Amino acid sequence: MTRRAFAPGRVNLIGEHTDYTGGFVLPMAVHLGTTVELRVGGPEVTLRSDAEPMPATVDLEVADPAGLEPSWARYVAGVVAELRPVTGGAGSVSTTLPVGAGLSSSAALEVAVALALGFDGSPLELAHLCQRAEQRASGVPCGIMDQLASAAGVEGHALLIDCTTEVVTTIPLPAGLQVVAVHSGQPRQLAGSAYAERRRACERAAEVVGSLRDATTADLAAIEDPEVRRRARHVITENARTLAFADALRSGDLPEAGRLMHESHLSLRDDFEVSTPVLDALVDDLRARPGVHGARLTGAGFGGCAVAICEPGSITDGWPLAAAAGATVATTTPAP
Ligand code: GLA
Repeated sequence: MTRRAFAPGRVNLIGEHTDYTGGFVLPMAVHLGTTVELRVGGPEVTLRSDAEPMPATVDLEVADPAGLEPSWARYVAGVVAELRPVTGGAGSVSTTLPVGAGLSSSAALEVAVALALGFDGSPLELAHLCQRAEQRASGVPCGIMDQLASAAGVEGHALLIDCTTEVVTTIPLPAGLQVVAVHSGQPRQLAGSAYAERRRACERAAEVVGSLRDATTADLAAIEDPEVRRRARHVITENARTLAFADALRSGDLPEAGRLMHESHLSLRDDFEVSTPVLDALVDDLRARPGVHGARLTGAGFGGCAVAICEPGSITDGWPLAAAAGATVATTTPAP
């Protein structure tokens, strides 16, 4: 039996560094993604990738996914360790996603591997399993956004995700809106300690003001540490911007959506401090172009991509991204 699974990458339109404190995010699954084709059978998982020189070989009993080489095998091993399939398999990985650009190539790999290994459950359960796999593989305490966007995408729609209730609300993308990701040229370094440090600062803020999702800027004065206060101000204002952005999309108010994206970028730059001068310059460049409504860094920051919304054809040096359906799997059994 062969299983062929496809999982899309994602781009986040707004709602950055809000998922791991139960806030709001607004990503969309994209038409670029990762395919895993697996002939089921055997005591290990062996995958070759068209994007990697070395294959990934993972024992079904793997205990320490983060210790494996080559490094991409860690994501496969994270899924194996969380799923514990009874049977392995051999096969191939191919991807149309730029790897390490901030379009969630690792989440797409995890989701596709889990489905190819026989995961059977809801998109939310799939996302939770793959989030745990990512954390085990990379050591980064990531939120649920990337894996849930990949698992639960809906064609033509962005997903407003409430990361406290985990309710996903689909938001249709207005006709004539193009979403484009443009690479800054800086490789994104998420595995560094900065992501975990930001998450800790948010948790410290929540110890003072309670859930940041329910807090308001009036609560900020109670936070003594000025750095923690700035981090919390980003999250509180970003949650409000994400809900306002969803309303702007619903009413087709693209200039307002673009304005909110720029505010998001400034908040990530000044309060959350996850931008870089190169990303700042790219965002300024994109915003200045005719037909562009707004632009911001997307994903964790520290390099990687900017995302812009614009009239079709106004940005020609990036990846135009279509909002796509979530992950799928198909099984074929060879004729006897
Ligand atoms: C990474 C993480 C997500 C999210 C973003 C920042 O992509 O995997 O969970 O925290 O950073 O918004």
